Amino acid sequence: MTMSLRQMAVDVLSTADGREKCARSRRHAADWFAARKAGTPIPLGHATPPLAPARPDRPELLDPRDVPRRRPGSAQGRIAILHAIAHIELNAVDLHWDLIARFPEIDMPLGFYDDWVKAADEESKHFGLVCDCLETLGSHYGALPAHTGMWRAAEDTASDILGRLAVVPMVLEARGLDVTPGMIEIFTRAGMDDAVAALNVIYAEEVGHVAYGSKWFNFLCGREGKDPQPVFLELVRRYFHGPLRPPFNEEKRAQAGIPPDFYWPLTAPDLG
Ligand SMILES: [Fe+2]
Ligand SMILES: [Fe+2]
Repeated sequence: MTMSLRQMAVDVLSTADGREKCARSRRHAADWFAARKAGTPIPLGHATPPLAPARPDRPELLDPRDVPRRRPGSAQGRIAILHAIAHIELNAVDLHWDLIARFPEIDMPLGFYDDWVKAADEESKHFGLVCDCLETLGSHYGALPAHTGMWRAAEDTASDILGRLAVVPMVLEARGLDVTPGMIEIFTRAGMDDAVAALNVIYAEEVGHVAYGSKWFNFLCGREGKDPQPVFLELVRRYFHGPLRPPFNEEKRAQAGIPPDFYWPLTAPDLG
């Protein structure tokens, strides 16, 4: 059966098991790029994504406030960090496919879909790498509770593509660039080479995802003749709950096309 790109997206979003979700995601990405290379692109098609993606019975999903704090110095603390990263990667797989399927009424160049299929493929790889590390440590994805926070960003921006680009790649994924070097240090000190290698892959590829966000945010603002910076600040204040927290990875943010006036003004609580 030949699927359209949006049917592929809904197929991934409707698959509950994490490993299976990621296997399908990678297969669909390979098919998309093979067809692009052959000059016979897969049609975008139409398919309605679910409001929330299918997920396995475990992990138990808690309100962010109820997730137990982790102590990074201990072996259990390191497992908890890897578990939290696996959860973020799985959310990211769904978030990128959701972006592909969610806004069919907005006419975008094919390069927009290339970027998000590639990002979804990379997130699927990241999930697998981090799950492998967890399993080497005798744990697995689902062994600990996780939080529901990330999908809220998707629901809040389900009818606003600019809001989605602002909050998901340009705020949440950019935050990953800020915190990943510290995590690499923790696993380096613990001598966990496989986790360090996985995090280095993630760190390198996440710059690209933030850059795709910035690229298409600027594209859409430019198409409407809008100045991107005030639009961005307004959308983040509307959809992202709470101030951004420094320190920021200014070098990687710059590499990804996020200038300082896109984040420093958001560090203060919004009084307006
Ligand atoms: Fe990732
Ligand atoms: Fe990402």
